[in-house]
Amino acid sequence: MKNINDFIKAKKEGKKITMISTYDFWSAKLCEKAGIDCILVGDSVGMVINGLETTLPVTVDEMIYHSKAVKRGAPNTFITVDMPFLSYQINKEEAVYNAGRIMKETGCNAVKIEGGEEVADIIEKLVSVGIPVMGHLGLTPQSVHALGGYKVQGRTEEEQKRIIKDAKILEQAGVFAIVLEAIPSKLAKEITEFLEIPTIGIGAGKYTDGQVLVFHDMLGFFEKSPKFVKRYLEGGRFIKDALKTFKQEVENGIFPDKEHTYD
Ligand code: KIV
Repeated sequence: MKNINDFIKAKKEGKKITMISTYDFWSAKLCEKAGIDCILVGDSVGMVINGLETTLPVTVDEMIYHSKAVKRGAPNTFITVDMPFLSYQINKEEAVYNAGRIMKETGCNAVKIEGGEEVADIIEKLVSVGIPVMGHLGLTPQSVHALGGYKVQGRTEEEQKRIIKDAKILEQAGVFAIVLEAIPSKLAKEITEFLEIPTIGIGAGKYTDGQVLVFHDMLGFFEKSPKFVKRYLEGGRFIKDALKTFKQEVENGIFPDKEHTYD
């Protein structure tokens, strides 16, 4: 993906979009080498990297710090940056200021905003000043307290109607793609079929136009994963075993050996 038009093109051509949420130089470099279409610098950084309970405390400065590192690692990949909690909800001026800082200081390509109708005017404003916006519906982690926890959304008819309405409103407001998080696959299919812009799912089944997973989740860095995460590697176990081997070798005088010593 070079720009937002490529997202629409991919949908038209039926080419699935891949996105990985990650936060640093080396993982971004690997994503670019693997040909991942888009990197999301997610505000999940607060939970995944910094051990927070929610994404709420994450700041614009932290997002900028991580996004700059990602951009250095993946200079040729389309990069979307999450706008953290309260960096866009207060008013349009603050939203433009914060999104503008993210775009200017990181060199990334777009921002992502959580929410539906309630943020439509903010999205319109950002798009009008030339900032591409990705939407995010369903389970929106910045609203975890209002939602009563991290749980599947769109189970009731009322919730389904609201998410469908929000998807239409976001498309009209000018987003170039929408993340659909933790909703039943039937609902994601319906939304995907009526939108002209692509949907990128996480825990939303196989009918979305693309899929996003968090780097550390899909590589198995945590002991447990939610149902929607496929573990493509048991990274945590491999790393722990390597650390244990290092400890044993140092304690037993095996490392450093001749090969790893300057004469
Ligand atoms: O913060 C994040 O990483 C996200 C994805 C999980 C979609 O919003």
